[in-house]
Amino acid sequence: MVGDDAPDTAVWAYNRTIPGPVLRLRQGMPLRAAVTNGLAESTTVHWHGIRLPNAMDGVPGLTQLPIPPGGRFDYAFTPPDAGTFWYHSHDDSLVQMGRGLAGALIVEEADPPQVDRDLLWTLQDWRLEADAQLAPGFFNRMEIAMDGRVGNTVTINGRLPETLHVRAGERIRLRLLNAAIARIMALRFEGHRPVIVALDGQPCAPHEPPDGRILLGPAMRADVMLDMQGEPGRRYRVVDDFYGRLSYTLVRIAYDPAPPLRAHPLDALLRLPANPLSRPDLASAVVHEVRLQGGMMGGMGGGGMGGMMGMASGAAWAINGMSMTGDGSAGMPPLFRVDRGRSCILDFRNETAWWHPMHLHGHSFSVLDRDGAAVPHDEWGDTVLVRPRERVRVAFVADNPGDWMLHCHVMEHQVGGLMTTIHVS
Ligand code: C2O
Ligand code: CU
Ligand code: CU
Repeated sequence: MVGDDAPDTAVWAYNRTIPGPVLRLRQGMPLRAAVTNGLAESTTVHWHGIRLPNAMDGVPGLTQLPIPPGGRFDYAFTPPDAGTFWYHSHDDSLVQMGRGLAGALIVEEADPPQVDRDLLWTLQDWRLEADAQLAPGFFNRMEIAMDGRVGNTVTINGRLPETLHVRAGERIRLRLLNAAIARIMALRFEGHRPVIVALDGQPCAPHEPPDGRILLGPAMRADVMLDMQGEPGRRYRVVDDFYGRLSYTLVRIAYDPAPPLRAHPLDALLRLPANPLSRPDLASAVVHEVRLQGGMMGGMGGGGMGGMMGMASGAAWAINGMSMTGDGSAGMPPLFRVDRGRSCILDFRNETAWWHPMHLHGHSFSVLDRDGAAVPHDEWGDTVLVRPRERVRVAFVADNPGDWMLHCHVMEHQVGGLMTTIHVS
């Protein structure tokens, strides 16, 4: 994984590849996946971001029985939306995802936008030791209550990033997937102006990200259009500076010395065709407060560490005072029930000192506002990154019946109690 000179890293993999094989299909086509479990422990596969029937959602104890070692489960569904999605283990997820069980699922538009190349970067973060093996110590108490198991090695498509070779003038659609278990990323493309055209698979109004930084919490995706307007023969860096002084060069872009492919950027439209999503009716929507609680005080570099914030139970985190730990189970009442077809607003209030990528299964939501300020560009998602102390409201039509997980996608936070379910009947 980390280069030809280093020993191979022992991982857990789908079909012996890291990340798992890229699953690509056309919008409207059915997908079938026969999953056989060759692990020594049970597993399930979750199809992240896909609006699918509840029984196919892959949550052990909630939507299906775990697949035992040697067992098999057949998943079959037809993804309604085109876009960049992914799949990953949802059982013992901290360990199973931390050891590599994740892959991309790409649903192609019937009429895809005109680009020269369609590239995918599945970004994973690993904590490797000198012998290139994964460091032990999942379920570290401190990390659970802080920012999770942030590693020391970020790979692109399962390899230490190699230079990206480009031709001046070409237009690249780059699908970014943050498949890390804890690391938040903020990617800057030096000398370039990426335009975001989709978030979490759902088209948005094409726009350049604020400060040119593409912010991706764990589980989040962004499709960007990159017009390669750099100079032939030159090299540029792609930098991840989310953790400030720990910023690093993710990868370099190297331009072929050949003259530009075309004199001006393509004038093809950047906007992607719409997906068949219902727009929530805000006037009649039911509002549910989702208070995120717990964790160590202080936050990143903030010093003061005064123990857990307002937690009664032994868990590190809670939603509205309740801690559901593990990977999802039917053992706890849902946070709320909602009638099918109702519009629903989730009012996230982050009472903690930490960032939380909050993910809802089975639906895509419209991101309404942050601390009262409207979010521009018609952003939709299945995961929304909530900043420390921030209030974020999202809205969706509860049109998919069943029990659906709602949890933080920092795996340590999920297993530490930042998880609940909602029931759509
Ligand atoms: Cu991608 Cu419940 O997770
Ligand atoms: Cu999901
Ligand atoms: Cu979290």
